[in-house]
Formats: sequence, structure tokens, C-alpha cells
Amino acid sequence: MKRLPFVLAVLLSLGMSSFAWAEDLPKMTVWKTPWCGCCTHWVQHMRAAGFEVEVQDTEDLGMVKRMASVPDHLQSCHTARVGGYTVEGHVPASDIIRLLGERPDATGLFVPGMPSGSPGMENGRHDPYDVLLLKHDGEAEVFSSYK
Ligand code: CU
Ligand code: CU
Repeated sequence: MKRLPFVLAVLLSLGMSSFAWAEDLPKMTVWKTPWCGCCTHWVQHMRAAGFEVEVQDTEDLGMVKRMASVPDHLQSCHTARVGGYTVEGHVPASDIIRLLGERPDATGLFVPGMPSGSPGMENGRHDPYDVLLLKHDGEAEVFSSYK
């Protein structure tokens, strides 16, 4: 049966494509101020990773952060929502994809401040930073670390 390898190859490719469908990323909404350059760079990083991103420019980010349950001490320059989670600051796309795959019971991922070297903050310097997973009880744990 010479056709068997061909049939197997077709079945495999079908399996692969359905797997790719299952990995489709949810749409992301990003709130930022109109004048934020590093926010725009971060949005470009998200789009390059495959996210469909809707950008909302607003001069009142404080209201957005209150609605997205961003605590004061974890704030950064922009706030995003994706797949039911909050994403605050310059969080790498790979961490967000991992979050959406693992779906932990949490508020979302946070990179407080604006560490140099994080996605969208490329300025030649590389400061170490942690991506924090914020639980619903207000406790934050390290989700990933960048040195
Ligand atoms: Cu920034
Ligand atoms: Cu930003």
C-alpha cells in the first residue's frame, strides 16, 4: 500500500492545522495615553506575536486602572485586557501566551514601572525585572524573571 504514507501525511497536516486553530489568541484591548511612545512599541510587540490589538487612547488612565483592578504599587504606563485577564505594563508576549494556556485563577500579569530592556523599552540597557501574577486575594507571585 503505497498510499498509506500519503494518507498519514494528510491526516497529520489536518491535525496540525486544527491544533493551530485551537491556539488562536483572543483579542486584546490596550488603554494608553495618546502621547506614550513606549506603549506603542509594546503594542507592536504584541501584534508581532500574533495578537489582534485594539488601542484605546485616553487621558484618564486612572479610571481604567481602577476598573481593571490594578493596585497602585503595580502600575505602569498602559493597561490591557485579554482573555478575561488584566495585563499591566511591559509584559512579554510569551508570558501572556503562557498565561492564556495555563489559565490560572488570578487577576493577570503585571510589570510595575518601566524596566529598561523589557518589550517596548529597548534602549540599550537591560535591567532585571519580574513578571508578577496577581492573585484575587491581592497576593503577587513571580510568574517569570528576566535577568
Ligand atoms: Cu512604557
Ligand atoms: Cu506603555
